[in-house]
This record gives sequence, C-alpha cells and structure tokens, in this order.
Amino acid sequence: MRSGTIVRILGAVAFFAFAAVASPQSVVKLGMVSTFSGPFAEYGQQMLGGMKAYMKLHGDTVAGKKLEIVQRDDGGPAPDVAKRLAQELLTRDNVDILVGFGFTPNALAVAPVATEAKKAMVIMNAATSIITTKSPEIVRVSMTLPQVTEPMAIWAAKNGIRKVYTVVSDFGPGLDAEKAFTEAFKKAGGEIVGSVRTPLQNPDFGPFIQRVKDAKPEAVFLFLPAGAPGIAFMKGYEERGLREAGIKLIATGDITDDTVLDSMGTPAIGLITSFHYSADHKSPENEAFKKAYVEVNGTKLRPNFMAAAGYDGMALIYEALKKTNGSTDGDQLVAAMKGAKWMSPRGPVMIDPETRDIVQTVYIRKVEKTGGGLYNVEFDKFENQKDPGK
Ligand code: PHB
Repeated sequence: MRSGTIVRILGAVAFFAFAAVASPQSVVKLGMVSTFSGPFAEYGQQMLGGMKAYMKLHGDTVAGKKLEIVQRDDGGPAPDVAKRLAQELLTRDNVDILVGFGFTPNALAVAPVATEAKKAMVIMNAATSIITTKSPEIVRVSMTLPQVTEPMAIWAAKNGIRKVYTVVSDFGPGLDAEKAFTEAFKKAGGEIVGSVRTPLQNPDFGPFIQRVKDAKPEAVFLFLPAGAPGIAFMKGYEERGLREAGIKLIATGDITDDTVLDSMGTPAIGLITSFHYSADHKSPENEAFKKAYVEVNGTKLRPNFMAAAGYDGMALIYEALKKTNGSTDGDQLVAAMKGAKWMSPRGPVMIDPETRDIVQTVYIRKVEKTGGGLYNVEFDKFENQKDPGK
C-alpha cells in the first residue's frame, strides 16, 4: 500500500472518529427525575406530557441542537432515590440539564448535586419556598405554596370568613402553606381556631376531620399533595357531615387538580381554591397548549398544573439555549433564564432574577360543572404574585 493511501485511510478514520465524538455535542440531553409509578405516577406523566406538547409546537431542535429527554422514575417522595438517579444521569448518561422534581424532599436532595456538577436544574413542581435558595443552579417554573396560599387567606377574610381551622400535609409545602395562611389571615383580621398536620404517606383523614368538626370553625383551609389524598379528604368531609354543619372548605388548587377533579364528582362543586393554573383558563395560549397536549398524549389525562409547568420549563430552556447559542454551562443557562418573561398557558409569567422563582397571576376559582365535566372556573385574580416568603 502506498503511503498516500495510508494517509487517506487514516484521514477518513480520524474524520469518522471526530464525527462520532462531535455528534453528541449537537444534542442537549435533559435528565428528568420525576414520579412515574405508584400513587403519584401522574406527576411525571403530566410533566412529561407538557414537555412533549411544547416540543410538538416548537420542534425538537433549538440553537442547532436536538433535545433529548432521558427520564427516570423516583417512585414518589424518596430523596435518596432521587439523588442517586440525578447522579447517574449526570455521570453515566451525560445529561446537560436536570428537570422534573414533583416532591420537595427529592428536589432538596438533588440541589447539592446540581451545584457540584454546575448543571441547571429546572423545577416543574416541588413548591416549598426554600428550595431555590439551596442551589444557584435552580430555577423554578411551578409555584411556591406561600405564593398560592396568601391570596386564598386574603380572599377568605374579605368574604366574611372569620374562624378557620388549617389542615396540611406534614412536610415542606404543607408547613409553608400553614404558615402563609395563618400569617395572611390573621393580618386580615381572621382567627385560626386550630391546626393539624396529617402524614404524607397513606393518611387516614377520619380522626383529623372529626377534630375539625368538633372545633366548629367557619371554614377549613386545606393543603394536601395533588392526587388521591384530596379525593380521600373530600370523601371524609362529606361522610362526617362537615358540609351539613356549614363548615366551608377552602384550599390551594392542589386539591381540585384537573387530573382528579372529575373523580371527586358532585361533592366538589362549589369548592373555592387559589392557584396559578386551571385547564379552564381562557386564553389563546392555553387553547394551543391543550390542543398540542391531546395530540401528543391522547385524552387519558386532562392537562393539569404540572403539565403546564412541564410546558413552561421547556419554553424557558428553549429561550435560554437561544441566548447561550446552545451552551449548556449551568451558570450561563441560569443567567439567561433570570428575568425571562413569556406568555404561559396560565397567563403572563416572569422568572424573578433575584430569587429564580416564577412571578405569576394567582387566580381564585370555583368548581363548576361545565359542558365537558367539572372545572376550576376562575373568577378573581391576584396579579404579579411573587413568593411572599422571600
Ligand atoms: C411538593 O412536594 O413540594 C409538592 C407536592 C405536591 C403538590 C405540591 C407541592 O401538590
């Protein structure tokens, strides 16, 4: 073989070797840690459904890079599992951005991992106020409990409710909700006549509901993680005769989440909640989102607030990647995300450059039976609501 041929062969080998190395660099991998099994399996399904809806409308390529989602199931509130999955995603799968996180304990466990790896971490649910302070790489597109709770307290006080009993799930977001409700309600002239915290896993609400009934408040304020717990609580509220006793139920929208609302049935009608997203929100952006969601995911689940957060998380990642020209360096991406503003399916939103939390409208809604089933119909709003805890 002549040396020229050898050089050409070596050249070709080098080219293909280079191409093999170069191609992964034209991909941006999103490592998703969320819940895809067990009683909270819908958390991950909704987030992923929302992310896919965004990609359906905007394509899967941004700043010349193709986006790929690598998903992992944490099975529910399980910080050790979430931490291990995030570490594996970063070291074995070489993901560029961490996304997902339904539960506060999981997000808190992953925060130091993101800091150490210098990878952006986009939170699509976990809503305890303190989370964003745990890593400079964290940006949150969902909500905080104080943010959505304070408007409920103010609205209740304005609408003649004076004595409230608070019931919250005994973990980060519940404690945040209890504190935010109590402070804002007292400030507005209300009185807290009792408060109780229920276990996060498999709670039996019966005895707690009885305690509330015996205290004879005008209303119960409730926070439970979205999903089955709300259905169980509503059942107990009816069965133990709280409605008949004239005790109103007010809550954050986690209880009347679009995923479970129809299964709550008629007892849910009239329930008043405060929240940042309702599938019933009337806007062209929400119509486009819902249409794309159905096209990609079918009609098994109605898109809920976690789907909206998945969609908005992608909107933010796309905009940030455009600004960094495709660089996935965590510090650069987070800098590009700070101050971002867009029109979300929930209404106008902005990432607060100081806190990296989302600023948004919080709506007061009432469950009504409309053509297609039960919906949270918005009738009042608090605009530009920040996390009051920071
Ligand atoms: C949380 O863990 O922060 C959390 C979980 C479910 C919710 C809201 C917050 O509905």
